[in-house]
Amino acid sequence: MTAEPGTRLLKAEKAAIETAAACLAAGGLVAFPTETVYGLGADAGNGEAVARLYAAKGRPAFNPLIAHVADIDAARRIADFDTDAETLAAAFWPGPLTLVLPKRPGAPVAALALAGLDSVALRVPSHPTARALLAAFGGPVVAPSANRSGHVSPTDAGHVMADLRGRIDLIVDDGPCAVGVESTIVACLDRPTLLRPGGLAREAIEQVLGQPLALPATPDDNDAPVAPGMLTSHYAPKAKVRLNAAGASAGEALLAFGPAPDFAGTTLNLSPRGDLVEAAANLFSHLRALDAAGATAIAVMPVPHEGLGEAINDRLRRAAAPKN
Ligand code: TXA
Ligand code: MG
Repeated sequence: MTAEPGTRLLKAEKAAIETAAACLAAGGLVAFPTETVYGLGADAGNGEAVARLYAAKGRPAFNPLIAHVADIDAARRIADFDTDAETLAAAFWPGPLTLVLPKRPGAPVAALALAGLDSVALRVPSHPTARALLAAFGGPVVAPSANRSGHVSPTDAGHVMADLRGRIDLIVDDGPCAVGVESTIVACLDRPTLLRPGGLAREAIEQVLGQPLALPATPDDNDAPVAPGMLTSHYAPKAKVRLNAAGASAGEALLAFGPAPDFAGTTLNLSPRGDLVEAAANLFSHLRALDAAGATAIAVMPVPHEGLGEAINDRLRRAAAPKN
């Protein structure tokens, strides 16, 4: 959906919802209102659409995204709910609460959207237009806030247009957002933990749970540069990673980009044709596949430091940092 140079702005009527759902299904990028802020949506199962989403935002790093679904049944197909998660979903969905839960095997969410993690952030928004779009599309939609990286989250369609005009396919306009701050994020992986304060008050959550929320062990501000090893919200390969390799030696696996040199050992190619969108879509799944194949060392060919290459190199640099 990159043929159209402009960004269409459509009022949130029935025909616009159908156009938006078709655009998502074709791999396009659609900004839509939620009760918190406007989100920039892509088909969660389409790795290349997700890669284009990071490119449109101009994010220099891949942060894991929230998968938006129409209802709790759709959420249960993607993640495992423990008792606390069930309690919170029953009390606060649809609404401004995001739950981070263990991903189910085979859930239709691209590895890139999860930054390679085994957990997934899920949210059922309450905004009628968001709900109508999710129902019409019929699958999970990943959506970070619809702003350029480093800018504040947009609470009306004009903000989105100012930031993303010409970079996305479509904006569904339904006026200002009622809540105006992002959703509260709670992880239910172990004991319920507050990862991000937001539009749902902590006290309301604690009252329903009957216990205080835990706080994460390390502050995890994904917009700030983080020392290698400190960032817990990304997949880290078990293998030792060597960057800017012209080729691999015995005992290494090769993670290639573009035309690869002859190599007898295990080789995966991020993008044989040297396409950065394709490479981003393959990054986490290839790292995982090499880990799963038992590689103890991975030689990575250079990736150009432009466009999505910046975020790919950020991730590879972290993957290559000494493990602690
Ligand atoms: O209100 C909202 O939540 C808005 C609307 C559009 O739904 N979305 C939003 O997305 O704020 P974003 O991408 O700007 O923020 C998502 C946050 C990031 O801080 C990310 O690190 C965290 O969710 N996150 C996503 N998946 C995670 C995971 N598996 N574990 C820990 N944190 C996760
Ligand atoms: Mg954001």
